[in-house]
Amino acid sequence: MKVLVIGAGAREHALVTALAADPVVDAVIAAPGNPGMAAIALCEPVEATDAAAVTALAARHAVDLVVIGPEAPLVAGVADAVREAGIACYGPSAEAARLEGSKSFAKEVMAAADVPTGMGRLCTSIEEVAEALDAFGAPHVVKDDGLAAGKGVVVTDEREAALEHARACLDKEGGAVVIEEFLDGPEVSLFVVSDGHTVVPLTPAQDFKRVFDGDEGPNTGGMGAYSPLPWAAPDLVDEVVRRVAQPTITEMALRGTPFVGTLFIGLALTSRGPRVIEFNARFGDPETQVVLARLLSPLGGLLYAAATGTLEQVPRLRWSDEAAVTVVIAAENYPGTPRTGDVIEGLDVVEEVPGAYVLHAGTRFGEDGTIVSAGGRVLSVVGRGADLAQARERAYAAVGRITLDGSHHRADIALQAVRGEVSVAGSV
Ligand code: AMP
Ligand code: GLY
Repeated sequence: MKVLVIGAGAREHALVTALAADPVVDAVIAAPGNPGMAAIALCEPVEATDAAAVTALAARHAVDLVVIGPEAPLVAGVADAVREAGIACYGPSAEAARLEGSKSFAKEVMAAADVPTGMGRLCTSIEEVAEALDAFGAPHVVKDDGLAAGKGVVVTDEREAALEHARACLDKEGGAVVIEEFLDGPEVSLFVVSDGHTVVPLTPAQDFKRVFDGDEGPNTGGMGAYSPLPWAAPDLVDEVVRRVAQPTITEMALRGTPFVGTLFIGLALTSRGPRVIEFNARFGDPETQVVLARLLSPLGGLLYAAATGTLEQVPRLRWSDEAAVTVVIAAENYPGTPRTGDVIEGLDVVEEVPGAYVLHAGTRFGEDGTIVSAGGRVLSVVGRGADLAQARERAYAAVGRITLDGSHHRADIALQAVRGEVSVAGSV
């Protein structure tokens, strides 16, 4: 089987790595890819959101499967174009990707499918926003209704800051915001693979969205992740499949817009049970890096089965007992406009640390075979180990071998979990 992976981040580097390790996969092509992927895949300089170019590339290489990583091509209809050309595609249609592209659409589907989530109100004027903020009280949760690369949400105790973010979102053309009830409790990311009807859950992970230690500072795309979650209830995955994933997938099928791809369920584990914070229509980044680090079953067969409506026939997934931790190395000033063009050193010595490896995100080839920074999140350093403590030590030992001027990373990824300090408030 030949597979084309669309995207350029560490999530796609993890996907390419897992696909290349599947014995039924004989070639992986990445578009546009990055220098990390170039070591194991043929990288083609095609714009991920250009549906015609992606389809032509898939046809030219006669690939059997296209796997779409990021949200932008999904919302742009790239999966629709690929499928129309008769090529199997893992990734939802533009219609189905609205589960991520529109917070209000996601809320509507959740209501129809009776999925537990926080109360929310869609507002299109600042007066409505003010009223909703007062109705729900602090802490305030203000969400841009459209796509915002994980940066559209502000959670604050200050009414003025909430109003200011709402104004910025409303000022955009067709701008709308969702004001939401604050959900308390640890967050979990659970990805489920679906062929439009059947649901196969992956293993849960936890992400660190804020830029600084202790969950301070602005939201980012994600600064690190770990799996498994030793503190989570053993039946968490079953419960989320039963109450969230299956009802949502069934609702989308009933609407005539079946969801084929990864339904990313962002949850808060509140004292009243799991509540959906958000849906995404793709694998999460950086959670995918740790989830795939633990997947023992072949990935190519799984995604091909999802793309061709045959998930029911896939054997139960097998997971490693090992733990995985990933730490993101970000460029200076990320999540603001990042500084780029700096040489990255130490990449070649990382694998001296047992169980550690590097996935590339914002990198490009510089002169004389160097690798230089080219984006906000530059690298995702993964450590695997017998338990979280060992995986974490290895990830940070590897991070310590890399130098990138001006870069920063969080020092507390998986720390509370290792110390046994994460807990879900008892049910009432
Ligand atoms: P989202 O883009 O919807 O995932 O939101 C980004 C982050 O904002 C989430 O990971 C949470 O940390 C936080 N957040 C979003 N919605 C809520 C909520 N209703 N209550 C508490 N925190 C939230
Ligand atoms: N790490 C969260 C996301 O991919 O949106």
